[in-house]
Amino acid sequence: MRRHKNELNLLFNPDYDERLTAPPKERGFLVAADVRSARPLLSAHDSLDELELLAKTAGIEVVGRAVQHLQRIDPATYIGSGKVREVQEQVALLGADVVIFDDELAPNHQRELEKIFGETVKVIDRSALILDIFAQHARTREGALQVELAQYEYRLPRLTRQWTHLARQTGGGSGRSGNGGVGLRGPGETQLEVDRREIKKRIAKLKCELEAVRAHRSRHRVQRVRQGIPTVALVGYTNAGKSTLINALTDAKVYVADQLFATLDPTTRRLTLPGGKVVLISDTVGFIQKLPPTLIAAFRATLEEVSEADMIIHVVDAAHPHAAAHIETVEDTLAEIDVPRLPRILALNKIDLLPNGVPPLRGADRYAAIVPISAQTGVGIPHLIHEIERVLRESMLEIKMFVPYQRGDLLALIREQGVLDQAQPTPEGTYVRAHVPPRLAALLAEDKI
Ligand code: GTP
Repeated sequence: MRRHKNELNLLFNPDYDERLTAPPKERGFLVAADVRSARPLLSAHDSLDELELLAKTAGIEVVGRAVQHLQRIDPATYIGSGKVREVQEQVALLGADVVIFDDELAPNHQRELEKIFGETVKVIDRSALILDIFAQHARTREGALQVELAQYEYRLPRLTRQWTHLARQTGGGSGRSGNGGVGLRGPGETQLEVDRREIKKRIAKLKCELEAVRAHRSRHRVQRVRQGIPTVALVGYTNAGKSTLINALTDAKVYVADQLFATLDPTTRRLTLPGGKVVLISDTVGFIQKLPPTLIAAFRATLEEVSEADMIIHVVDAAHPHAAAHIETVEDTLAEIDVPRLPRILALNKIDLLPNGVPPLRGADRYAAIVPISAQTGVGIPHLIHEIERVLRESMLEIKMFVPYQRGDLLALIREQGVLDQAQPTPEGTYVRAHVPPRLAALLAEDKI
């Protein structure tokens, strides 16, 4: 009876309840190598600050960090072996259970470090952390498929013998029991080979599924062009304020959080410009320095949507001490996915946090306009909308083409979306000179419409 009462007391004690429901946080120790010959955008310490934020977003409590200045990466242990021992001591002292390296570890470094830190301490890198956060935040089917693909591609070269749960998950039997792979394992195959084969199969399947989702989306895209709605893509470093801006511009109730990668899946909303034309504003995934290559590859298609926009608004947290490095990271990633020279506006966000104004910027000539705003207080938003309208109008391209009579729909499209400068009828059709948005110009040039 007494025991029963005690139990009840425990259950009604809010602290106890908390401990029952919330799993203890993982404790992380961060490690960076500061290599003399490298020219990173951020210093090792600043990059670790960012890694700490990533860790927090993933639910890890950071308990310590170490930086080693090196001439070159150690071929065996990534950082020097003496430093590894030092980190091991710190990890034991602080009770950390995961060591997070700030750069992507090569598979051989990963394996060696895993061996050294043993079974109780996990070794991961920035890429694995970002992939984990993306996996937590993907909401749409396409987002989830892209992240899963990126995770498998990241894992494939890093498989170790301990990593055997995949085969068991798929019903192939236990990898530990020697004969567990019956029915799945081919003659003479080790468990590692089975896992590799299984992952390759999954990668191929995910690629097929993604193709199907994308084919569906590209049909929508052509429809969008046909409907004549220009698209403005928002891009920016993670936490720059893209979701807040899309809300400020359009009333969309997009999730805003002071977290990295709170929004992962693209959101598209309508905005009516003062002149009456409607544009679509679409939010994209946030960028970050050292984005895992497998993730860039998996998200390429989503990011490539940016290249199908009519213009880009690059949002930057102007109050961030590394605003300039953030701008470069975004521009570099855009260059990597080969975004054409679309007109772009740089929106200098969070100016409410800059009482002394915005510091001067390098590379300002890349932008058709630079507009200081506060997406949170609304300052500068009307000016930004005005600039979107002006830049869209000025970015139209001149086209000269022959439109046969049976393609009267093309003529209507040109009129709707652009300005028809000259139309010269002939017995077979019309010679046209017009100004149209770049996206429509491209589709007309490629005969895709
Ligand atoms: P990701 O999802 O990581 O790509 O972030 P995001 O670029 O969509 O940023 P989001 O809109 O979620 O904003 C990030 C944080 O910055 C939130 O805490 C916002 O409230 C804050 N924020 C956004 N705009 C402003 C602003 O103009 N001023 C201030 N002070 N804070 C802002």
